[in-house]
Amino acid sequence: MQISDTTIDLYGFQRSDFGPDFRWGVATASYQIEGAWNEDGKGLSIWDTFSHRKRWPIPTVRTGDTGDVACDFYHRYRDDVALTGELGFNAKRFSISWPRVLPNGVGSVNQAGLDFYSRVVDACLERNIEPWITLYHWDLPQTLHDRGGWPNRDIVQWFGEYVDVVASKLGDRVKRWMVFNEPMSFCFGGYLVGIGAPGIVSRQKFLASVHHVNLCQAIGARVLRDRVPDAIIGTTHIITPAHATGESARHLRAQRSLDALFNRIYVEPNLGLGYPLSDSSFIRPIERYIRSGDDAALRVDFDFMGVQYYTRVSAPPLPIPLIGTLPIPTFNVRRYEINAMAQSCQPEGIHEVLTRFHKYGRFPSIVVTENGTAVPDVVEGDKVHDLRRVNYLRQHINQVLRAKREGVPVDGYFCWSLLDNFEWAEGYDARFGIVYTDFATQRRIVKDSGLWFRAMLRGADA
Ligand code: FCB
Repeated sequence: MQISDTTIDLYGFQRSDFGPDFRWGVATASYQIEGAWNEDGKGLSIWDTFSHRKRWPIPTVRTGDTGDVACDFYHRYRDDVALTGELGFNAKRFSISWPRVLPNGVGSVNQAGLDFYSRVVDACLERNIEPWITLYHWDLPQTLHDRGGWPNRDIVQWFGEYVDVVASKLGDRVKRWMVFNEPMSFCFGGYLVGIGAPGIVSRQKFLASVHHVNLCQAIGARVLRDRVPDAIIGTTHIITPAHATGESARHLRAQRSLDALFNRIYVEPNLGLGYPLSDSSFIRPIERYIRSGDDAALRVDFDFMGVQYYTRVSAPPLPIPLIGTLPIPTFNVRRYEINAMAQSCQPEGIHEVLTRFHKYGRFPSIVVTENGTAVPDVVEGDKVHDLRRVNYLRQHINQVLRAKREGVPVDGYFCWSLLDNFEWAEGYDARFGIVYTDFATQRRIVKDSGLWFRAMLRGADA
């Protein structure tokens, strides 16, 4: 693919400010890009089932889209990996589809599925792109869901078996591993509010899932350590800072309640800090899922922490039973732009979350494993002038540099995402790519943001 040069205004920093070892990458997820939903022996995932479901009022994808084809990465991975290299990135984060590898979740292995990921890894290495693997980015095998899924504690066993299969196959070449992508998003979205697969609304199932995912963080990391002794192991969390809207005890209580439910319950148990039970009445029944010995079983010493940031919210006191608040977008339209997902873009927020993770004092390395924005892109000939995204990226990356200069050990930045892709319950409407995907033809068009990255990564003054 030819990328034509454009003059793009770059300012604020240059690549060398981040040091020679800094990783610059793009992030993607299996269900969002691969397609080939029923090819070569792949089993169904809960996202196949969820997106194919058309029955109102059960929640499903707003646009009626499915990930059946998505970006057809399963067949086009070579070109997409090559493009990643042409844009100057030295790392690619992608996830493994559990049912592509183990169609029934456990038991017999689908060799064709494993071989596919092995080829993707080799394609990356051939171009000096470091493969970073996420083991779980939300596509649970449907068969395991039918056996209870995340709310069933047996999943700790199932997950360990799955990690073993993947690590044994790819661990000779892959050193960077992330156990989960954003437990908050798939537990909260999938089991409490039902906006993501499997579309369940249940406080009990949500709390059980949270605890079992936290146990799986530890099992996953342990299996990886055994199988890949030189692995560098992390996980990823989305952190949405919740700000108080006043200083009274009531305001602070509301803030703490939301922060516990949105952020802390997914992070702190693995650090040996337990669940923040005193800050949230809503989560207290999680205790019924905790067994003796779990405190120790939850502990993980991660080599790095993946931090994902999109927006900040307010937590005003509200008469909501047990929670006492709701996440309210902080719309200050004069100060902050609103993106196509109705998110308020607040660049200082990424500095806030990086600093916050550093304060735990537990992570030798912190990596921004996702950050990006959706804007309503328009194709003009063979160009997409997404200057809003360019602005977003440079402002956020500037804040990453600020954190790094202040001593936060930030070692990488992964943009979400290489390609416009299947954006979960939003279908194909929300475009996050730095490369435009024409879903009818699968043509790729590098947007101005992709060209901006290329210029910055290749050393032009930024
Ligand atoms: C994150 C998800 C990712 C993508 C972006 C926009 O929360 O991890 O898959 O949907 O949001």
